[in-house]
Amino acid sequence: MSKRILVVDDDDMMRKMTSTILARHEFEVLTASNGREALASLSTNKPDLILLDVMMPEMDGYETCKQIRANPPTAAIPILMLTALASIEQKVKGFEAGADDYLAKPFESEELVARVNVLLRRSEIKSLPSPAAPSERREMARTIAVFSLRGGAGVTTTAVNLAGGLAALWGQPVALVDMVMIAGQTALFLNQSLRNTWADLAQLNQIDTDAVLSALLRHDANVFTLASPRRPEQSELVTPEKTAKVLDILRSQFQYVVLDMPHDLSERSLQALDRADAILLIAQPEIASVRAASMALEIFEALEYNEKKIHLIVNWTFPRMGLAQADIEKFINSKVDLVLPCAEDDFVQALNYGKPPVINAPEGPLSAVFEDMALVLSKEEHRKTRPQNPTPAWLRVAERMRKKK
Ligand SMILES: Nc1ncnc2c1ncn2[C@@H]1O[C@H](COP(=O)(O)OP(=O)(O)O)[C@@H](O)[C@H]1O
Ligand SMILES: [Mg+2]
Repeated sequence: MSKRILVVDDDDMMRKMTSTILARHEFEVLTASNGREALASLSTNKPDLILLDVMMPEMDGYETCKQIRANPPTAAIPILMLTALASIEQKVKGFEAGADDYLAKPFESEELVARVNVLLRRSEIKSLPSPAAPSERREMARTIAVFSLRGGAGVTTTAVNLAGGLAALWGQPVALVDMVMIAGQTALFLNQSLRNTWADLAQLNQIDTDAVLSALLRHDANVFTLASPRRPEQSELVTPEKTAKVLDILRSQFQYVVLDMPHDLSERSLQALDRADAILLIAQPEIASVRAASMALEIFEALEYNEKKIHLIVNWTFPRMGLAQADIEKFINSKVDLVLPCAEDDFVQALNYGKPPVINAPEGPLSAVFEDMALVLSKEEHRKTRPQNPTPAWLRVAERMRKKK
């Protein structure tokens, strides 16, 4: 059966030309000459793909795209945006609106057809049924939640670098989950565009393994990010039940899952913390942050979390005048497991370029901190034996341990 494509363009010539190219390649073509017409057409005819022009009067391509994504029956249809402007800004805007791919005008007919085919193939894979129930697949991942009740403590910084460290150490993919549903920044730390987010998953009636895997943003460093929704109101779509479902699927598919936690104990957060094998509780060496950590510890105790699951980290986000470690330990009646040094310049650089130290400068001193942390938090069976083909990161960690002894 031939695939059906909806071509949306206000320019008659363009619309005819694109339609002709597509028809020649055996696609069934529907047309609309503006955003409103497109939405009306979608309510009666569901295409397999939408070709969407950006510059249109009344409702432009971005707005049309957002509305298509916001409507559950059409949310999953692949969208290829066409624009006359080939700037990064336009591209980012397109991805943020929820486009799957982007093609600048003028284009060659071969390129158009190739991109259409790639998108169609990808959406076919997405809609395949799950091969097996997650529990039958593999052992569960080791899940590590990074948490602080106070913002700005370095939770995202730690989560992103730890995920990068684990991926480098074991040469294996690591899932990095943004649990902050309003304006979460995990993807930003890795310079990843928001092609897919939690919201795309939460909109589905049935969340299966393929849906979860295809919602992840892939990073060259072998980190797979599940990003925070693009818009604040979408956060409500991500219910505690859906959170649990998605996390369980991720845990069945990866060896390691790192959670960048929000600074709250909402039902959603608890679903995540309950599933964590380790919780890194971060505190800055100042009184408000230490109090927040103390409060978190009390709550973890009330939740009957095993003490061994909690690791206390003091993060020097500022250079001077912080509380002494001994005073912090006395106040919260618990040992500090690790101190992160202050590195303002490195972390600001890292943020602006979307390149965390553990990925950008793997042999530097900051990376060493996170690689070592990654080893300590790894699965016992990984920690205890030398890998057959150790990665450069593993060799560095081993060398540092040897020197310490
Ligand atoms: N050890 C550190 N030294 C200096 N700056 C840091 C350190 N850790 C984090 N920061 C900075 O502190 C700010 C908040 O960090 P972030 O990871 O976003 O915190 P959170 O996720 O807890 O809100 C960021 O600008 C980050 O670069
Ligand atoms: Mg954060």
